Amino acid sequence: MLIKNAKLRNLNHSVDILIEGDVIKEISPSIISSDSNIINANNNLVLEPFIEPHVHLDTALSAGQPRWNKSGTLFEGIECWSEKKETLTYDDVKKRSKKALEWQIANGIQWVRTHVDITDPTFTALKVLLELKEEMKQFVNIQIVAFPQEGILSFPNGLKLLEDALILGADVIGGIPHFEYTRDLGVQSIKEIVKLAIKYDKLIDVHCDEIDDEQSRFLEVLATEALFNNIGTKVTASHTTAMGSYNDPYTYKLFRLLRKSNINFISNPLVNIHLGGRFDSYPKRRGLTRVKELDQDNINVCFGHDDIFDPWYPLGNGNMLQVLHMGLHVSHMMGYDDISNCLDFITCNSAKTLHLGDEYKLKVGNKANLIILSEQNDYDAVKLQASVLFSIKNGVVISKSTPKQSYIFTTNKKFIDFK
Ligand code: FE2
Repeated sequence: MLIKNAKLRNLNHSVDILIEGDVIKEISPSIISSDSNIINANNNLVLEPFIEPHVHLDTALSAGQPRWNKSGTLFEGIECWSEKKETLTYDDVKKRSKKALEWQIANGIQWVRTHVDITDPTFTALKVLLELKEEMKQFVNIQIVAFPQEGILSFPNGLKLLEDALILGADVIGGIPHFEYTRDLGVQSIKEIVKLAIKYDKLIDVHCDEIDDEQSRFLEVLATEALFNNIGTKVTASHTTAMGSYNDPYTYKLFRLLRKSNINFISNPLVNIHLGGRFDSYPKRRGLTRVKELDQDNINVCFGHDDIFDPWYPLGNGNMLQVLHMGLHVSHMMGYDDISNCLDFITCNSAKTLHLGDEYKLKVGNKANLIILSEQNDYDAVKLQASVLFSIKNGVVISKSTPKQSYIFTTNKKFIDFK
């Protein structure tokens, strides 16, 4: 396969990309090849695939089942899910999860880290996701997080369920310390998570301080454990929305630890802005972590969708450009330079979080995993919510889209160009 006239993110001129089999063979300004399989990128952006670093596929597409979350709060969401969980079947989880994965694939995503609720002693959802991981591997790489939605130490047998989920095949250990009954249990749960991560050599991704409580300070515990055990790059703090409410002197002190610990951050702007500030009158807090400040301090931070049409989030279609659009707004990252480099938040920063290493990069010798957008740069990609024209995985086109076009019927009937 030969991709002509590709605009790479770090280059001013366009290049051709030659793919042989599943590998990128050559990238240079002009390639002559006898290969008849040619895609003309027309100077549009060609880059590494989008990554979804934080989603709950087991709950996806279940909004309104068995009832709608009318208050729109995180806590009513947990109650709705708890009711749904009682009637969960293998086929139902598989149908919904697979459909959400198909949306993600169509939107140019090739890596997904999904949390799966393991506070269901039958492990129905976990078994489905393990099966889908294998079944869909030609299209998408899935990392599964064993996520104890109702706590590790506050839920009957929680710790054993967590360990059993790892033995069954989960790749990442999750947690929810701010939801444990007491601060002590929350702290202890993080220590247990780290012990298990070391024992089974797993990554860690904790739902950490997802609450507008300025006293919720499990992030300092997670970062300290990561630092002391020298596992920071394998550890992720998801949400950390309480940081949006911390006082500045404490946050200044905290950032020293965060820098030293090397842990990763995932912010979920669509869901956080929807669920955050729910107990406030006015002024209402945004309920978001300090994305801008983390990024400026060279601490790795990326964006996730979190929920797709489920009890916690009633919208969404698995499109990371929607997530990015909201993320830039609510993080006050709308400066020219911020927007011009914004795709980092849904590509390379996420790759670092998922611990993908060099294999992710679009370069000669690596697997031919890439997407072709309908726009030429980061700025237009987010501004115009670009279409993913082609998604290519291991040298094979796995999805294809046509950008929408609009005409206005003025005197000279005109195709509208939004640039
Ligand atoms: Fe989440």
